[in-house]
Amino acid sequence: MDSDNSEKKKGTTRRSFLGQLGITGAGLTLSPLLAKSKAIEAPQNIPVSSMVLTKVVINGKQQTLTMASGVTLLDALRERLHLTGTKKGCDHGQCGACTVLVNGERINSCLCLLAVCNDYEITTIEGLAKGEELHPMQEAFLKHDAFQCGYCTPGQICSAVGLVAEGRAKTDEAIREEMSGNICRCGAYQHILEAIKEVQHSA
Ligand code: FES
Ligand code: FES
Repeated sequence: MDSDNSEKKKGTTRRSFLGQLGITGAGLTLSPLLAKSKAIEAPQNIPVSSMVLTKVVINGKQQTLTMASGVTLLDALRERLHLTGTKKGCDHGQCGACTVLVNGERINSCLCLLAVCNDYEITTIEGLAKGEELHPMQEAFLKHDAFQCGYCTPGQICSAVGLVAEGRAKTDEAIREEMSGNICRCGAYQHILEAIKEVQHSA
């Protein structure tokens, strides 16, 4: 295969991969911790009084969820709404794989209870693209090869979108510091930095 075709094939594959992170994320669920989350769909022994109705707008769509009061936003997204692009890594607020935007601010969804999100607007990785058109941050991640296995990527991208909106981090050091809550075990940090800078400079 000549190099042009090879690059095209590579680009197409990676583009498809990134575009599908939010759709086929189940195929990327590498953490054994995921097995734990299945318990949230077995509420039979939970008293009715412990169930909470929460109204949220998720990726532009109004959702009304009645779930146990202790269910995290992460589990609600993944297990009830099947938005598996948001990843569960540590489930303890230490890796950033679960980062989503709540009212425009990035948070670790594993540390946030669904019940406190009433009337909030939530954006996950699935909500960033407009149809076939990727978000500029997704395009920049593709351009700069800012991922390898892709497991951390939805969280990295959501966090990066939040960081740019915050408008604070202007130097490499500041960007690294502001992104330090998002761990990449593949070590794609330099490429992630370049992607973020590109979006910052084009804004
Ligand atoms: Fe939420 Fe790791 S899964 S910070
Ligand atoms: Fe593999 Fe970040 S790309 S963990």
